[in-house]
Amino acid sequence: MKKIVVFTGAGVSADSGIATFRDSDGLWANYRIEDVCTPEALAMNRSTVIEFYNIRRRELLQKRANAAHTAIASLESRYEVEVITQNIDDLHERAGSSKITHLHGELSKLRSMADSERIYDIPGWKEAAKAVENGADVDDYASVWKEELEAKDPYGDLLRPHVVFFGEQVPNYDLACRIAATADILIVCGTSLAVYPAAALVFAVKKDIPVYLVDPGSPDTSRIANPVHFIQKKAAEGMPELCRRLLEQAV
Ligand code: APR
Repeated sequence: MKKIVVFTGAGVSADSGIATFRDSDGLWANYRIEDVCTPEALAMNRSTVIEFYNIRRRELLQKRANAAHTAIASLESRYEVEVITQNIDDLHERAGSSKITHLHGELSKLRSMADSERIYDIPGWKEAAKAVENGADVDDYASVWKEELEAKDPYGDLLRPHVVFFGEQVPNYDLACRIAATADILIVCGTSLAVYPAAALVFAVKKDIPVYLVDPGSPDTSRIANPVHFIQKKAAEGMPELCRRLLEQAV
């Protein structure tokens, strides 16, 4: 069975109604990174940072996986598939992908301020997502999406969003490179390839394998030595088309 590695960014969730970062209407057009996504911001303006991620959790519970997430999950019927995502949403999980590595953390988790190895699933997250998908009011689940300012873990240490801030290490990067090196096919979807080290993942694959790029924009692929097949379409349109083709040609 051939192996496909799918490397995704914010664009794969754009068609679910979740803002990207660097598009004209992106998150960084409305918030300053230094106010909400750095260790210094968390130390100096804890309430602003906690509130920013509470808003994003509340929004995420109201969104659904789109056709791109579903198409990626469908590849598992004929390929070994691993998803490596820069996204902190859980839409790949909700679409049914079974092997997912998050490079920049996960909105549905918190972690200890004292020990970054102590990571905690937010209790009731999956149930809340399912209930809201079935029409429940997201504010009936505020205890799930709202991290309290002084929330502590069982060891008594303050908690924080399990999100990699700018300037912080990307703990899963080496693992992601090892995964990428085993790919027979690489699919890149919905990333500007602007943020390192994540963007360097495209250089971790074997040089002779095909790279498929699905993006309505024009990420810079000039440094990719591999043959690049560019599908200049939105993920919800381009990914189902690509995945259908790959499933038809699967051996
Ligand atoms: N379908 C597919 N791709 C899309 C769509 C869509 N509907 N809409 C936009 N895109 C593309 C854009 O053209 C761009 O290439 O998605 C990409 C979004 O780029 P960014 O906003 O830079 O998002 P991303 O690449 O995921 O950012 C990387 O930067 O701020 C940090 O931690 C954050 O993980 C994030 C990282």
